Amino acid sequence: MRKGLFALAAVSLLATGSIAACGDDSGSDSGSTGGGSAAAGKVGIILPDTKSSQRWGTDDPKFLKAAFDAAGVPVEIQNAQGDKTQFQTIADGMISSGVAVLMIVNLDSGTGKAVLEKAKKAGIATIDYDRLTLSGGADYYVSFDNVAVGKLQGEGLVKCLEEKKYTKPVVAELNGSPTDNNATLFAQGYDSILDPKYADGTFTKGPNQDVPDWDNAQAGTIFEQMLTSNKNIKGVLAANDGLGNAAITVLKKNQLNGQVPVTGQDATVQGLQNILAGDQCMTVYKAIKKEADAAADLAVALAKKQKPTTATGTTKDPESGADVPSVLLEPQSITKENVKDVIADGFVTKDAVCTADFAKACTDAGIS
Ligand code: BGC
Repeated sequence: MRKGLFALAAVSLLATGSIAACGDDSGSDSGSTGGGSAAAGKVGIILPDTKSSQRWGTDDPKFLKAAFDAAGVPVEIQNAQGDKTQFQTIADGMISSGVAVLMIVNLDSGTGKAVLEKAKKAGIATIDYDRLTLSGGADYYVSFDNVAVGKLQGEGLVKCLEEKKYTKPVVAELNGSPTDNNATLFAQGYDSILDPKYADGTFTKGPNQDVPDWDNAQAGTIFEQMLTSNKNIKGVLAANDGLGNAAITVLKKNQLNGQVPVTGQDATVQGLQNILAGDQCMTVYKAIKKEADAAADLAVALAKKQKPTTATGTTKDPESGADVPSVLLEPQSITKENVKDVIADGFVTKDAVCTADFAKACTDAGIS
C-alpha cells in the first residue's frame, strides 16, 4: 500500500508539479504491482447508468475489472445511475483522490466535457469509452464503428421486411438519446440504408422519434403513440435492444408481434430471446470484452506514464474538428441463425438465454 501511494504521489507530481494529496482513498486496491517498467497509478472509470442497456451494469464492469486485474493495475469503477450531478460528484472524487487516468462514458457531452477539462487541469490522462464527448478533448477514444452498427441495423430490417413481402411497408424509427453522439452515428448508418428505400418507394417513411436518455419506459409510451396514430406500421428500426423490447411489448398487446420486424443492438439476453421467439428481427453484437481490453491497454500504458502504442487510427470530433487517437472495433449482425455465435464467444451463457420458455427455439437454432 505504501509503495502504491508513493507511486501515485510521484506520478501526480510528475504530471502537474502540484496536485491534491491522495485523500481518503479507502476503497482502493492495495498498491500497484505494475509489471511493466514503471509502477502504475490508479484508473478511475465512470459508467453512465444501469437502465438504458444491460451492458453498463453487467458486461462492461465485469470485462473492465478483469482487464485491469490481469494487468495488475488498480481500478475504481463507478456508475452514475443516469444522474448528471452524481456523474460530476464521482469525477470530482476520483480527481481529488489522484487517479492517474480517468475513463468516462458520458451522459451528455456538456457534463462530460466539464469533467474531462477538470481532469486535464489536474494532469490526469483521459479516455472516452464507447461515447465520444463532443469538444471534450479526451486523449483517447475507444468504441465500435458506430456508423457500421447503424448500417447493420438498416440492412437487417430491409432483409426481414423483404421476407415478409409487404408492399411499401411503413417503417417507424426509434432513435437513441439525442445527447449521445453514438445515437447520431447509428442513425447516420441506418438512414443511409433506409433513406434510398423511402426515396424509391420500396418503403414508406413513418414516424421517427428520439428517445431521451435511451429511456426504455419512455420508448414504450412513444411507440404506443406511434402505433395509435399509424396502425399500419410494418417495421421498427429500434436503436438498441431495450428500445426494441419496448416496441415489442406494445406490439404484443396489439397481437402484432412477429408480424412487425424490430431491430436492436447489444445482444442482450432479452434481445436474443426476442429473436429466438421470432419477435425481433436482429440485434448487433459488440464484443464488449474486446472494447474493455482495448480501453484497458491504453489506460494501463497511461497509468504507467508510457505512451500508448495501441491506438489504430483517429476519430474526428465533429464539433471541435480535433482528431482523437482511437480504437474502433467491428460490430456483428445477429439473427436467429447465429445467436449461437454470441454464446460461443462467452458473452452470454446458454443457461441465461435458453430458459424453459426458449428451450425448443434454442434447439431449433442449433444451440446445443
Ligand atoms: C451504446 C449502446 C447502448 C446505448 C444505451 C450507446 O452509447 O453504444 O451500446 O445500448 O448507449 O446505453
